[in-house]
Amino acid sequence: MSRIKILPDAYEIKPLSDIYLPELLKLQENAFLNLENEELLRRNSDTTLRDCLVNHYTLGVIYKGILIAFGILYFGKLTNENIGYDLDLNIDEIIKTANIKLIIVHSAYRGNGLQRRLIGELEKEAIKRGFNTLACTIAPGNFYSIRNFEACGFKFYKQKQKYNGLIRNIYLKKI
Ligand SMILES: CC(C)(COP(=O)(O)OP(=O)(O)OC[C@H]1O[C@@H](n2cnc3c(N)ncnc32)[C@H](O)[C@@H]1OP(=O)(O)O)[C@@H](O)C(=O)NCCC(=O)NCCS
Repeated sequence: MSRIKILPDAYEIKPLSDIYLPELLKLQENAFLNLENEELLRRNSDTTLRDCLVNHYTLGVIYKGILIAFGILYFGKLTNENIGYDLDLNIDEIIKTANIKLIIVHSAYRGNGLQRRLIGELEKEAIKRGFNTLACTIAPGNFYSIRNFEACGFKFYKQKQKYNGLIRNIYLKKI
């Protein structure tokens, strides 16, 4: 698919409410259509994505009125969704850990640095909310995502079996 170049001031980034659920699901399907290997990504149910929109913090990138990318900052608290447990942190530190759960850029708009921009904006929000650690999991073969998280200051911590046995790299950043 041909890539569309967009100028940095031609798009808007804003927090999304649950009216965007159908758009998130469409972007997720677009990501799976363009995936070399299904193990690179975990498919989220509509219930999970709605929960992210309502109870967590989801930023969208809007270009010409269309949602072309989104990123989710997830507050796992003391549930096993909190990647702080994989970082071997103590309870006080786990509570101050937020996850960057998922970032998807529509295949036609890749190459505009939108993942890095979203990581930066989600980090600002996490700082505002008093978190001091950001964590994420990335499939070892997801080179584009690994490159972007590392460029944003994330460090590899360890590799682990997660999500029904899928291998994931665990990354963290102190903020
Ligand atoms: C990972 C992802 C968000 C990166 O998108 P992005 O921010 O637009 O990527 P970048 O701007 O860093 O792109 C840099 C280059 O890599 C290319 N690229 C990025 N992702 C690519 C992919 N999945 N497949 C092939 N090429 C890709 C871009 O076209 C660009 O090429 P160019 O330099 O020739 O223009 C995007 O590939 C994606 O949505 N993947 C599916 C979902 C996913 O894996 N999310 C991460 C897990 S949290």
